[in-house]
Amino acid sequence: MDASKRVLWTEGLTKSFGGLLAVNNVDINVLEKTITMLIGPNGAGKTTLVNLCTGVLKPDSGKIYFLGKDITGWPSHKIYREGFVRTFQIPQPFLKLTVLENVLASLKSDAESPIKAPLRMTWLSREEESIERAFKILAKVGLDDLWYYEAFKLGGAQLKMLEVARALATGAKLIALDEPIGGVDPAYAGDILGYVRNIKETWNVTFLLIEHRIDIALPFADYVYVMDRGSVIFEGSPSEVEKNPRVIEVYLG
Ligand SMILES: Nc1ncnc2c1ncn2[C@@H]1O[C@H](COP(=O)(O)OP(=O)(O)OP(=O)(O)O)[C@@H](O)[C@H]1O
Ligand SMILES: [Mg+2]
Repeated sequence: MDASKRVLWTEGLTKSFGGLLAVNNVDINVLEKTITMLIGPNGAGKTTLVNLCTGVLKPDSGKIYFLGKDITGWPSHKIYREGFVRTFQIPQPFLKLTVLENVLASLKSDAESPIKAPLRMTWLSREEESIERAFKILAKVGLDDLWYYEAFKLGGAQLKMLEVARALATGAKLIALDEPIGGVDPAYAGDILGYVRNIKETWNVTFLLIEHRIDIALPFADYVYVMDRGSVIFEGSPSEVEKNPRVIEVYLG
């Protein structure tokens, strides 16, 4: 592993709920421009691990680093502003607003200069830039032709892609997706992950993906962590994961 390429890493991360060790001494490394996948049976601790990393929960012990900074104990809004976004942290789409308006609402505005701010021309050009940026993002998730649709008219898979688009609009460097193809028709599930892979390959964005349906998702992963009862029981490439006897035993059955 090339440590200089790490976007996120944890050291000895541990969290109990009462007597239950939900996350037990976990070390993970998420390298830049990868889709790093977290798999494991129900209750393995996947969501808890992501909650710890994004500041939704505080660890009992251990460390979390994001882009070289120790973010252990940071509140989630601060981690979000730093560029690590978990999709559920983004407010639900405004259902009566259009697809384009939803993305515009998530665009991170640059720090405004007190000198330029009163100039109308500056605002107009900023507005144009924002719309251009929003369309680039929408094209990446296949929603550019539907920019004028109100969000409530979108299908399940399209809503998931709008969620990804809004995460991108925040300028996130790392996006955590908890079961992005959950509840989506298998016919479209591959499309969603295909868009995610394309974004990862063409933009400087990294994905941490929790997924249940590994039959569909595994081919899109660059690296996989397998959790069981709070611990990482295996890590490796998707092909190694499929062949590992312990993984087959606890997960693939
Ligand atoms: N807030 C909480 N309070 C008490 N126990 C919790 C809490 N959150 C999670 N747990 C427990 O911690 C363990 C890990 O849960 P977690 O949700 O992280 O698993 P998961 O791998 O995401 O499972 P799933 O695949 O079902 O989403 C489970 O036994 C769960 O019941
Ligand atoms: Mg979960």
